[in-house]
Amino acid sequence: MEKLLLDVLFLAILSGGVTHSDLRGKVFIFPQESKTAYVSLIPLVKKPLQNFTLCLKTFTDLTRTYSLFSYSTQSQANELLLFVNKMGEYLLSIGNSGVTFKAPQSPYAPIHVCTSWESASGIAEFWVNRKLVGRKGVRKGYVIGSEAKIILGQEQDSFGGTFDINQSLVGEIWDVSLWDHVLPLKDMCDTCHSGNLLNWQTLHYKDHGYVVIKTKVWI
Ligand SMILES: *[C@@H]1O[C@H](CO)[C@@H](O)[C@H](O)[C@H]1NC(C)=O
Ligand SMILES: *[C@@H]1O[C@H](CO)[C@@H](O)[C@H](O)[C@H]1NC(C)=O
Repeated sequence: MEKLLLDVLFLAILSGGVTHSDLRGKVFIFPQESKTAYVSLIPLVKKPLQNFTLCLKTFTDLTRTYSLFSYSTQSQANELLLFVNKMGEYLLSIGNSGVTFKAPQSPYAPIHVCTSWESASGIAEFWVNRKLVGRKGVRKGYVIGSEAKIILGQEQDSFGGTFDINQSLVGEIWDVSLWDHVLPLKDMCDTCHSGNLLNWQTLHYKDHGYVVIKTKVWI
């Protein structure tokens, strides 16, 4: 018993408090506005990205700006940022350059966002609730850095920190997935939790501050 306890303690120290779990059917809730509550995600593989697909689902009643996915490197705080400027207007930043996409929004409903980008053409596709809302060019030829801090709930203005309470997410987020390639987004969702870099089924994460995990109620 004591040995087991020691082993568990040792493992916890080794992994720096990182939890490894299958979160299918679960969500992170950010229950209050704060600049202290966030979740760090640890990718299954670290690699520079010439292509990616990012999908997530969220529910919030915020009308102000907020961050959905903040991936920063030492050199760029907004290396890969998915942000909401206001209800129905999304900002995708790559290597600190942004493009916006507009999508009509139904209130009181969760949102399913998928976006992909390929360096070769610079084309970013943006899908909201399984509908294409635009294809625009950003950072053609760029490569996204691999040594990243990936944060849900807050927007990083520096590597791993400098949060702004007015950009925090208050609400729920789930099925966050990241792939190192461009997926055909038309038929997305059966596989939408199974990214090869971030995967809701084998998620490595660390939560900070007031963050609660609950069973998903939205479909
Ligand atoms: C990225 O996608 C392009 C096609 O758009 C492909 O030619 C290239 O090999 C891909 N790069 C990597 C590292 O997978
Ligand atoms: C956040 O927004 C509120 C209301 O608009 C404002 O009073 C406050 O100064 C802002 N805080 C920061 C840190 O920007």
